[in-house]
Amino acid sequence: MRKQLENLQSQALEEVERASSAHELEEIRVKILGKKGMLTHLLRGLKDVADAERPELGTIANVLKETFNAALAARMQVLQHQEMQDRLASERIDVSLPGRVPHGGGLHPVRQALTEMIEIFLQMGFPAMSGPEVESDWHNFGALNIPPDHPAREMHDTFYLHPGRDGKQRVLRTHTSPVQIRVMESQKPPIRVIAPGKVYRCDSDLTHTPMFHQVEGLLVDRDVHFGQLMGFIETFLRRFFERQLPVRFRPSFFPFTEPSTEVDMGCLFCEGSGCRICKGSGWIEILGAGLVHPNVLGNVGIDKEMYSGFAFGVGVERMAMLKYGIGDLRTFYENDVRFLAHHARGRGV
Ligand code: DAH
Repeated sequence: MRKQLENLQSQALEEVERASSAHELEEIRVKILGKKGMLTHLLRGLKDVADAERPELGTIANVLKETFNAALAARMQVLQHQEMQDRLASERIDVSLPGRVPHGGGLHPVRQALTEMIEIFLQMGFPAMSGPEVESDWHNFGALNIPPDHPAREMHDTFYLHPGRDGKQRVLRTHTSPVQIRVMESQKPPIRVIAPGKVYRCDSDLTHTPMFHQVEGLLVDRDVHFGQLMGFIETFLRRFFERQLPVRFRPSFFPFTEPSTEVDMGCLFCEGSGCRICKGSGWIEILGAGLVHPNVLGNVGIDKEMYSGFAFGVGVERMAMLKYGIGDLRTFYENDVRFLAHHARGRGV
């Protein structure tokens, strides 16, 4: 029995020394001291030993237990220290590495152009209003004097939706002009307003995207005439492009204006000598405008004898392309981060 105890002591101490983790140490402890442990098993045999030998063997067993426990504790400390050192080494942070700069957001060029336009119009006395993108056929076409057989109403130009709860035909608005109608239905002259927003057309190719942006403008008052429209548009273009460019008003046709005009601006890129962008003409078409058609005033119950008005509609992508020198419409919607970062302004906004 004495021999067994001695053997057990040296075996136990050896195992403790060899243990390489706190977990392993615990396993050794249970193996020796646990309920079914080796020492516990040996001590059960004490009762069969001669009385004279028992006290000495008991002392040896106690010493073994203490020595073993002390060795366990010492080894545990060493292992814990080692584990801490390993963690410190593997989780070390190199404070001399360059920091990671967070990606700042920036305004999309279309949003930039839109914001600048809205600001300029506001300075000129035209606050912005919005209208629904899902629009009634009446607001988008009928009230604007667009006849039932007008080509713009074709399925291949307009996105038609299922009729609403009222059973009336609905469309994705094809222009911002229906906001004119909504404003005139709800306000009395004098009216000055712009309506910026998204518009939709069933069209997609090199120079068309199914969704794009417009800003509509409307002024209704007494004695509004074409000269005011011309001056207004020239002023706006000068402010937006921050230079004095020649402007030309070409006669045109829109069902909701009479007379109607399309406005061209001297080409910014070649200063009028002719280039790829202006297709050699020296002029770039920039917006549609005119005096509000008396039928339109009649449709919203405004006295056409007393009031007249002017209106215009301008494409935002077009203005952004010209102002920021962007050659391809599609780049706006491809979301190539390099393009966006190049043109982004207002980082951190
Ligand atoms: N709604 C027209 C379009 O989308 C643009 C336009 C032309 C708007 C003349 C107007 C206007 O207000 O007077 O092509």
